Amino acid sequence: MTRFGHACPHWRMLRLISRISTSVQRQREVHRRDLCIALRCSGSSFKQMAQRPNGETTAVLYRPPPEVRGMCSLDRDAFTQTIVVPALRVPKLVLNKVVKSLKKATIQRPGVPRVVVPEKKKKKKDGGGEEEKEEDDDDLRLVLLEPGLAGSFTEAEAEALRSLGVPQELQYYDLRLTYSNLKTEEVLGAVLPEGQEITSAFSRVGHIAHMNLRDHQMPFKNLIGQVIIDKNPGVSCVVNKTNMIDSTYRNFKMEVLAGEENMMAKVKENGVSYEFDFSRVYWNPRLSTEHMRVVQQVKRGDTVLDVFAGVGPFAVPAARAGATVLANDLNPESHRWLQHNVKINKVASKVRTFNLDGRDFIRGPVRQELPALLKAKASVHVVMNLPALALEFLDAFRGLLDPELCGDANLPTVYCYGFSKDDDPEKDMMEKASESLGFSLEGRCSVQFVRNVAPNKDMMCVRFTIPKEVLFSTEGKQTEPEEEPAPKRQKCEETTD
Ligand SMILES: C[S@@+](CC[C@H](N)C(=O)[O-])C[C@H]1O[C@@H](n2cnc3c(N)ncnc32)[C@H](O)[C@@H]1O
Repeated sequence: MTRFGHACPHWRMLRLISRISTSVQRQREVHRRDLCIALRCSGSSFKQMAQRPNGETTAVLYRPPPEVRGMCSLDRDAFTQTIVVPALRVPKLVLNKVVKSLKKATIQRPGVPRVVVPEKKKKKKDGGGEEEKEEDDDDLRLVLLEPGLAGSFTEAEAEALRSLGVPQELQYYDLRLTYSNLKTEEVLGAVLPEGQEITSAFSRVGHIAHMNLRDHQMPFKNLIGQVIIDKNPGVSCVVNKTNMIDSTYRNFKMEVLAGEENMMAKVKENGVSYEFDFSRVYWNPRLSTEHMRVVQQVKRGDTVLDVFAGVGPFAVPAARAGATVLANDLNPESHRWLQHNVKINKVASKVRTFNLDGRDFIRGPVRQELPALLKAKASVHVVMNLPALALEFLDAFRGLLDPELCGDANLPTVYCYGFSKDDDPEKDMMEKASESLGFSLEGRCSVQFVRNVAPNKDMMCVRFTIPKEVLFSTEGKQTEPEEEPAPKRQKCEETTD
């Protein structure tokens, strides 16, 4: 067992490494000594004092004690230490003005006050001798300064101090720095093996933070989760998603690292509320801009046909914008939450929901609705956001409608998503969509970059009006959907979507 009361596989080795590698501590001591010497120089002018330490020195100064390296179970007390920081003695009368003028030079630490009451000093008897009485410091306060900036006020700051009659003489102050004063990266950087990547990145879904930890971080997974909770107000559960999505429904396999095991998320996206069980449906906070981009193209009276609707981030806002919506998802759980979100956003009268395979949704409800919609003036938008597969589903539009209906049809606009690893993702998307439709979209579509999901892998959106030649084609004419369609299973995909 260690002093942290938790045996960790690499603990002994890491402890040894941290003992051998004392350079950080030495650096810290050198800086402390320099700062103390410089600041104790009685009577010396500010400019004669310490060389301004650089940002790196400051980072070293704030670095937690080396003993925390390799800690697997969070011991917050082990991060406590006392460091020396520069300070200015400022009369209370001008305190606010000084703090305002030195805004950038004052200490910037979470939970550390910029102004403190100085410790009472003992006054000596004339000619030395015994201490007699306490000096009257009641009218003074100490303004704590950022150690990295000590010794170099800007011209404007120096001028402000002069005009307020505050001498530029630095004091030193022993600052007790605790776990709560450290940033996430500082805590994790001190704990995780030296030289290895520390990632504190996570996506936020309501109270849930979800991370994608690397192998070397796994021994520290629970500590990392706890630090994320401590440092991010509102996060009460941290999950790690496994590297692959292997489910048809695009939800991640996940493990709770810290906090409550409550997967019921409540989120707001573009002003719309959604509720769902995050462990059972697909939700990606990084798509909010894309959801908004598409919904902005929908006008009152339009119709939106959402083939892979999830819990409703296209369907619900489109209905709120005044469109009539048919929204579908194969995952019964997504469908349930889609219905719930339609209700809580009070658009139940505008949205019909379906729990079908996408191809059957197109060949069934979409096929039924389209003839009437093609005669009307309002636009029809088909949204297909299942980037790993949606392009393949475009073949469902081939020969969907009876050629007799083909007149001056108001043809639907499709927004179909896909991933591309190609050097020319626009061309790649156009070609894949054309192949699936059996008709060239060259010069008839626009392709939009959505986001980079992995190195060399982009999520793209191809937008086009379904060609008459496809919709009313007599080749490969569509029949009614089978009674019990077998859902097409997906290949494994990276968690990037
Ligand atoms: C990438 S998510 C997109 C969800 C939502 N549109 C969004 O933007 O957040 C794809 C959705 O398609 C659903 N899905 C997967 N395969 C499907 C299929 N064959 N037919 C219909 N829906 C399917 C999944 O359950 C998931 O909710």
